[in-house]
Amino acid sequence: MDKIIVLDFGSQYSHLICRRIRETNVYCELLPYNTPTKILRELNPKGVIFSGGPASIYSKDSPKPDEEIFEMNIPILGICYGHQIIVDNFGGKVKKSDKREYGHADLIIDDNYDLFHDINDKMICWMSHGDAAEKLPSDFKILAHTKNSFSAAIGNKQKKIYGIQFHPEVVHTQRGLEILRNFSQKISGAKPEWNMQDFIKTVIADVRNQVKDEKILCAVSGGIDSTVVAVLLHKAVGENLRCVFINHGLLRQDEDKLVVKLFQDHLNIRIIYADVQTQFLRRLEGIKDPERKRKIIGEEFANAFINVAKEHGPFKYLAQGTLYPDVIESGVSKGPASLIKTHHNVGGLPKWLNLRIIEPLSSLYKDEVRKVGSLLGIPNELLLRHPFPGPGLAVRIIGEITAMKLGITKQASSIVEEELKNSGLYHKVWQAYAAVGDDKAVGILGDERVYGYVVTVRVVESIDAMTADWARLPYHVIENISTRITNEVENVTWVTYAVSSKPPATIEPQ
Ligand code: XMP
Repeated sequence: MDKIIVLDFGSQYSHLICRRIRETNVYCELLPYNTPTKILRELNPKGVIFSGGPASIYSKDSPKPDEEIFEMNIPILGICYGHQIIVDNFGGKVKKSDKREYGHADLIIDDNYDLFHDINDKMICWMSHGDAAEKLPSDFKILAHTKNSFSAAIGNKQKKIYGIQFHPEVVHTQRGLEILRNFSQKISGAKPEWNMQDFIKTVIADVRNQVKDEKILCAVSGGIDSTVVAVLLHKAVGENLRCVFINHGLLRQDEDKLVVKLFQDHLNIRIIYADVQTQFLRRLEGIKDPERKRKIIGEEFANAFINVAKEHGPFKYLAQGTLYPDVIESGVSKGPASLIKTHHNVGGLPKWLNLRIIEPLSSLYKDEVRKVGSLLGIPNELLLRHPFPGPGLAVRIIGEITAMKLGITKQASSIVEEELKNSGLYHKVWQAYAAVGDDKAVGILGDERVYGYVVTVRVVESIDAMTADWARLPYHVIENISTRITNEVENVTWVTYAVSSKPPATIEPQ
């Protein structure tokens, strides 16, 4: 399949460039900036994009691509820092700009022959740069400019090498997708062959080929990724797929019933239901430290899994819902990543189980997984549901997990979700829940003075959970949530609303 490769120079938008190219139906992969030309030649891309990045091209250790890339004779598009690499490489000069540009700028198009093909002579673009070209290489032509950037877009049409100072991948740039499409299809000649219908067919054929008559074990949580994995694999190997649903008791209200119903009635996939609530809650008794809780949950999850594998096996494969960004994060070293929270998955299984990992979604982004899910007939209600953390409500209960606090989070969170749905806001926010700790406050219920729990409602907006902002909900929605929680949830007297963004806070309190 024709492909474009994005070389990652450290921009926070590198993944976004890759996703946008895929939106134009051209397959795209993200690779480290210093990928050797030898590997690039083997991958045989139709074009290469240099992403932006935080470095200055004139500083001593600035990241640069393998020099030979310019001799590969393939189309190149440099974005922001990538644009400066091109200017520098071909003999131009980049310096710190006295007219730094952040945010919107009017782009005047001087040449709409190829990169700006079919785009009018003016559009709004989004800039974010402190450095700029001072002198252009002699064989490059200006394709567009802004008030502060005389060379906002440049190109050498013979060599098919282009540089743009603005970010076509962000939504604030008008017609950015068309610019990327012009590069990938018109200039590079990549055929738009990437679509989810074909992806499904290919995965099913590949899995059948690889797995043959062996059995696959797949943990399902009711979340999008594991459900899509299960349906895809079920289509490929039928009853040789065994799905296990582990109810650890830290799930949302009625989640266990919903998952069983979804699989058995709607998707027609049998599941093994492992009810391990008692073990989990017993082991979590008295534990207050958030990382200890996560560790115990991880261990207990693995134990429950091993028991199922022993009882229903032998299995040769273990299915996981790993997505493309996870593969990139673990494969590309960008320096020491700090451990903020130990995220839990089904890792940590013993070697003697001899399970080989099968990850059918590892080349997909989340929006592509949703598309696949929709094509596979998974209900929208599930596909558009908010993400839910693996360790479940344990990360939303501060201090010891008790039956009372668990009941409060479940019931209060379900009210938060319901009220957001009633007001049409559920799909506009990223996550929404109620957390509870050990803080108590006095309230008056009837004529009685009650010392009850303080519940904190958290509703955040986000694109990818890397950063998040607290949702500015209308007061009447907050009021409905608060009134319902204190009226309907026993032992709660106060409701507070969390107004911290990420960073510095995280989305979950633990
Ligand atoms: P934080 O709290 O780190 O959360 O801002 C970012 C996103 O990750 C989810 N999250 C988890 N997901 N296991 C998971 O599977 C975990 O341990 C975990 N901790 C946080 C969180 O819900 C949010 O979407």
